[in-house]
Amino acid sequence: MKNARYKVLFVCTGNICRSPTAEGVLRHRLAQEGLSDVVFTDSCGMHGYHQGEPPDPRSIATAAKRGYDLQPLRARKIVKKDFDDFDLLLAMDGGHFEELTEICPAHNLVKIRMFTDRDVPDPWYGPQKGFEHVLDLIESGVDALLADIRKELS
Ligand code: 4NP
Repeated sequence: MKNARYKVLFVCTGNICRSPTAEGVLRHRLAQEGLSDVVFTDSCGMHGYHQGEPPDPRSIATAAKRGYDLQPLRARKIVKKDFDDFDLLLAMDGGHFEELTEICPAHNLVKIRMFTDRDVPDPWYGPQKGFEHVLDLIESGVDALLADIRKELS
């Protein structure tokens, strides 16, 4: 984390479905591109309901089918320090964007963005199809994000 040139934090509600999936996909792509030491990524929730828990088993299984390992990840709640520590905080939906802007110190507001133009919908209440859809949106969002990160680093 300390030596990384760019630090990205994904933010959702519980940090057990959407944001850990985005973290897992970005980590995988960074490793493929030899950028794991250059770009640091993490994820967190706006709430601590699932603090310390691994991602939802449905997220783990859906990601595993496409080669992403979410098992080592553990949920945590956002802390004030995150706004200083990270270069980019990515809201998974518009609600998270609003909540983040409400608690972010003014000088760090420029670091907050939506992950993609559209909301990544909460899949938690089921069905399985929702988890596949979330992963589809995240894979294409991470492709676009990587292009932005490469520009940032160049
Ligand atoms: P996530 O999904 O924000 O994508 O991790 C949720 C997980 C848990 C809850 C809400 C959303 N919950 O209310 O516990």
